[in-house]
Amino acid sequence: MKVAIIGGGPAGLYSAILLKKQRPEADITVYERNRADDTFGFGVVFSDATLDNFEKYDPPSYRRITQEFAYWDDIAVHFRGTVHRVGGNGFCGCSRRQLLLILQERARELGVRLNFETEIADEARFADADLVVLADGINSRFREKHAAHFEPEVDLRSNVFAWMGSTRPLDAFTFIFQETEWGPFIAHAYQYETGRSTWIFETDPETFKRAGLTGLNEKQSADRMSEIFGWFLEGHPLLTNRSMWRNFPMIRSQRWVKDNMVLLGDAKATAHFSIGSGTKLAMEDAIALADAMQSAPTVQAALATYEHGRREEVEKTQHAADVSLVWFEHVDRFWDFDPVQFAFGVMTRAKAITYDNLTLRAPEFVSEVDKAFARHVRDQGFDADVDKPLAPMFQPLRLREMTVANRAVVSPMCMYSAEEGVPNDFHLVHYGSRALGGAGLIFTEMTCVGRDARITPGCTGLWNDAQEKAWRRIVDFIHVNSAAKICLQLGHAGRKGATKLMWDGIDRPLEQGGWDVISASPAPYFPDSQVPREMDRAAMDKVKAEFVASAERGEACGFDMLELHCAHGYLLASFISPLTNQRTDNYGGSLENRLRYPLEIFESLRSVWPSHKPMSVRISATDWAEGGITGDDAVAIARAFAERGVDLVDVSTGQTVRDAQPIYGRMFQTPFSDQVRNEARVATMCVGNITTADQVNTILAAGRADLVALGRPHLVDPGFTMRAAAWYGASDIFSPPQYLPGKEQIFRNSIRDRQDFEDLKIKAKPKTRAELKAEATKPLAAE
Ligand SMILES: Cc1cc2nc3c(=O)[nH]c(=O)nc-3n(C[C@H](O)[C@H](O)[C@H](O)COP(=O)(O)OP(=O)(O)OC[C@H]3O[C@@H](n4cnc5c(N)ncnc54)[C@H](O)[C@@H]3O)c2cc1C
Ligand SMILES: Cc1cc2nc3c(=O)[nH]c(=O)nc-3n(C[C@H](O)[C@H](O)[C@H](O)COP(=O)(O)O)c2cc1C
Repeated sequence: MKVAIIGGGPAGLYSAILLKKQRPEADITVYERNRADDTFGFGVVFSDATLDNFEKYDPPSYRRITQEFAYWDDIAVHFRGTVHRVGGNGFCGCSRRQLLLILQERARELGVRLNFETEIADEARFADADLVVLADGINSRFREKHAAHFEPEVDLRSNVFAWMGSTRPLDAFTFIFQETEWGPFIAHAYQYETGRSTWIFETDPETFKRAGLTGLNEKQSADRMSEIFGWFLEGHPLLTNRSMWRNFPMIRSQRWVKDNMVLLGDAKATAHFSIGSGTKLAMEDAIALADAMQSAPTVQAALATYEHGRREEVEKTQHAADVSLVWFEHVDRFWDFDPVQFAFGVMTRAKAITYDNLTLRAPEFVSEVDKAFARHVRDQGFDADVDKPLAPMFQPLRLREMTVANRAVVSPMCMYSAEEGVPNDFHLVHYGSRALGGAGLIFTEMTCVGRDARITPGCTGLWNDAQEKAWRRIVDFIHVNSAAKICLQLGHAGRKGATKLMWDGIDRPLEQGGWDVISASPAPYFPDSQVPREMDRAAMDKVKAEFVASAERGEACGFDMLELHCAHGYLLASFISPLTNQRTDNYGGSLENRLRYPLEIFESLRSVWPSHKPMSVRISATDWAEGGITGDDAVAIARAFAERGVDLVDVSTGQTVRDAQPIYGRMFQTPFSDQVRNEARVATMCVGNITTADQVNTILAAGRADLVALGRPHLVDPGFTMRAAAWYGASDIFSPPQYLPGKEQIFRNSIRDRQDFEDLKIKAKPKTRAELKAEATKPLAAE
């Protein structure tokens, strides 16, 4: 077998090693345009998990690599004169040059041919090769040459960064967030060998310009960075090596394989440096390729297996990197946070690290986070215990004169079980049991303001006396038997109206018994959905009057709060999104115009809803579709409602157009809540695939929302909040007297269960290499 590998970086060299081990008879050549010991950049990082992989696949290179490594366990966050350290991270750093020399030596030992100073311009010279590995890095010439086939997508990010080095020793992966007169600068730094550390500097383009960095040469910009970070560098110089300022290109390719050619490493996909995964991805690609070549009958089959099997893992890492880079791009959102909360945000930005996970590793840090949260709550006039603080989920929140006892919320969920809009015993049991289960706030399902405002024939409404009476019964039950507050969500289905019950075909038009639907514009949801009538002013006035009448009935029922539903493609959402609003009058065109009618409704509701009771608005913060609403629009929308007195923005996304392409995942809508809360400076509730109390605490502690709603988890577990309270020891949670023995038991058992769980987790966790090294080098205790 003949293998040609273009590029002698980590991907190229490691794939050469693994393939040669597998097929000693194969003729494998690496072509590298640079000299053997030329290298750009300074250090690379690997997690313990990646090193475990290296140990498994090639023990000799693993041993040499780890001999050269600097280990560290802590992450240190420097911000506004404070430093917070969190242990248990298990990372290793190594010089990139050393890594490449080790891999070159190992490849040579195995009989791989290494051709340096050989630039490959055309793959035609490898016509006789069975396999051509394109490991030619981030600017891959071959990816671009075959762009029509590979279909790469390059997203050039807004922040600029430069890779430098220093002799400053570091005992932790160090983030420094530095305030300057020009704006914020960030340093990501770690040691990779004795006396050498990597320093990546990052800033936004405006700060870059204001700091006068435009046009400076490497030395001059290093001098400027030395001035900014001089207090930390303690006289150590910054070193440069092609340390130009650049924008990070986030690269994704539709295809990684063409005939017998395969893209590996940065050539196929990149991951932002803030999660330190570039070299790891490159070497793990090599592992995946070798695995595929081991088991598949032909090269073609192996390449298909590689691409198919590897893509999900790469995309997951890229997603984590995306989330992380966005956090750094928007660091100014958190600049006024309490430093410990800021540090918590840094630690938890990419979702892998959570509140519970940090509690195990760094209990004192989490205790400080809890205290800062409790202080903030106390500053709002609550009697919060700051010395022994409750977990954030169990801290109260006040909106106008309504206090919710904890931050867990039952999200609005249609039950499709009403008849003629009247809620019945099902609804009483449904809402009642969730209130008894301990949630601080319960939202009703979308309750419709008129018969023709319903989504389905099973939707609840509040336009007549029978409905009012039935709702009052539910509200009274909740107020008498629980500590929960209840919010009425009012909505109008718009063009998504007259559709089937969820279990008969969600959003599908009714075949019989439908009614005429209206919308901002006469565009149907599905091509075969009913074409809605475009609302004229008379229709707008009629619907507005219906909203007002329902709100007045809501007040008569005793609801504690009112939410206006402007999300998910229903009537008011259809005005807001440019994809569903094609009007040419004052209600179409600019966002300001598109918001006019929803704001008008909000203002009329606000004027009849008692001023001591809060109001929220639910929005779709993105349409997940080209040309639709974006996170930036959501900030503008939130501001507009906030100016008119909204107390909380309930941040959902999508469901506005049929061909949306949402990116699902754990807590997938939380970044939008974060953006709205911390840019528009308005309280938010987040929702969407949040399934654990750990996630609730992580979101709240990081300041990404003020309330957290859970929809589907509550459908199967009415006692979600009570169980979480027992786990976190929030014993003040209200329980009706009938249920007290159950509460006492779960609280008693939880202490032991939690201890057992934590012991197990600690026992099951393998020691990090840093810990092992520390143990091995510890002097024996004098006994
Ligand atoms: C300037 C710079 C500095 C960096 N510094 C660091 C750092 O300090 N720490 C870190 O973790 N990551 C760093 N990275 C990122 C990291 O190097 C990559 O994520 C990782 O090396 C990817 O490995 P790779 O093998 O896919 O690509 P690369 O390491 O980029 O290797 C590709 C190789 O292909 C060669 N090549 C390209 N085209 C041809 C051709 N036509 N013919 C022959 N050879 C060719 C290149 O010379 C290069 O050696 C840096 C990247 C750059 C661009
Ligand atoms: C069956 C069902 C009914 C829903 N009904 C409503 C509703 O009436 N009003 C609303 O604003 N959102 C509604 N939603 C959206 C939920 O409130 C919530 O935003 C969504 O389910 C995501 O949260 P989760 O992952 O916790 O379930 C509904 C969702 C489902 C699955």
